[in-house]
Amino acid sequence: MKKNVLVARNTLKALPLIPSETIDMVYMDPPFFTQRKHQLKNRSNESFSFQDTWKDIADYTDFIKKVVKESHRILKPSGSIFLHCDKTAAHHLRLLLDEIFGVQHFQSEIIWTYRRWSNAKKGLLNSHQNIFFYSKSTDFKFFPIYTDYSPTTNLDQILQDRVRNAEGKSVYKRDENEATVLTKEKKGVPLSDVWDIPFLNPKARERVGYPTQKPVFLLQRILELTTQTGDIILDPMCGSGTTCVAAKSLGRDYIGIDQSEDAIKIAECRLKEMVISSSNIAKNGLASFFSKTRLETAILHSIKAFPVQRNGGIDGFLKEFIENKPVPVKIQTSKESLTKAYSKLIKATEDPKFHWKILIQTKASDEVLEKSDNVILLQSLGLQLK
Ligand SMILES: C[S@@+](CC[C@H](N)C(=O)[O-])C[C@H]1O[C@@H](n2cnc3c(N)ncnc32)[C@H](O)[C@@H]1O
Repeated sequence: MKKNVLVARNTLKALPLIPSETIDMVYMDPPFFTQRKHQLKNRSNESFSFQDTWKDIADYTDFIKKVVKESHRILKPSGSIFLHCDKTAAHHLRLLLDEIFGVQHFQSEIIWTYRRWSNAKKGLLNSHQNIFFYSKSTDFKFFPIYTDYSPTTNLDQILQDRVRNAEGKSVYKRDENEATVLTKEKKGVPLSDVWDIPFLNPKARERVGYPTQKPVFLLQRILELTTQTGDIILDPMCGSGTTCVAAKSLGRDYIGIDQSEDAIKIAECRLKEMVISSSNIAKNGLASFFSKTRLETAILHSIKAFPVQRNGGIDGFLKEFIENKPVPVKIQTSKESLTKAYSKLIKATEDPKFHWKILIQTKASDEVLEKSDNVILLQSLGLQLK
């Protein structure tokens, strides 16, 4: 069997050609039953699309069932499948996986969550997708990943061993002298089934303009959990080849299948010139992204503004528009002169979509600020008190 190949073909025709029990892991990211065509353009204005329209849900699940059945056949007994979907059809697909892989081989429903800007739709903002993880047998490959303790974990919880008492309650273990017992070495907290990994941002170099492209980081995590160097990974609907790029980056072999010639061409290019954007949120946690101090956050909240991150000239926006335009807010930092803070605000808000702007002065100074009339200068409460 050939490996490290991309196959431009209907997956239902290509999968039967793969010998049984030869694949270590299958990741599949099929159309989600959105009943629409997905279309996107790349930086050169080339358009890519795939169809996600079906007669009805039975037509859709019938197709997925065939792919899952074939996937089950070609997986080694130590292998696993990851099926990526969303709220549209997740409930149908879980039942289908139970039927083919067996309820006892269900391992996890991974919730991939990401931030989104709100939209006007009535109801809760959808900000997650689902990835079902099933193993082929109970003896499946799994390599745990550990994460840091949560900030609320106290030292005793980390260092002291626990047992269940007669009532089944978890209590600290004590020796014959009633002293607490040191726990075994811990590597941290096992990775949970909720993964906060950002969507590729529109400017990320990794983004190739293929609709519904997934981040390589997401696939690398799945691969690290369930495969080893030299293992062979199959993606039966690989799109722009994200799974193959992740596999290659980690020294795994891959087979990618997609019926779209365009998708396969993109995947080929990505595999030649590997571009993987690093995700600070994913690596260092969401907290690493929040650059505002508690004082800055409090100042913003006190004027009914919400904070924004990663912009030297804008710290937040008023929740309410003034004269139909958003109002950016800049807070002078302890290292900035008032003039410097003002010029940063002006530079960041040159766009005509802004008119009124707010500058919060936090330090006393003799500077005479020559400011434009549409900039409202406010003194922080701390400065007023001084
Ligand atoms: C959600 S996209 C995959 C996106 C991919 N994970 C990525 O990161 O770019 C689904 C893909 O399934 C492919 N597809 C749908 N039906 C197929 C079939 N019968 N055979 C092969 N590919 C198919 C589409 O062409 C599309 O590229």
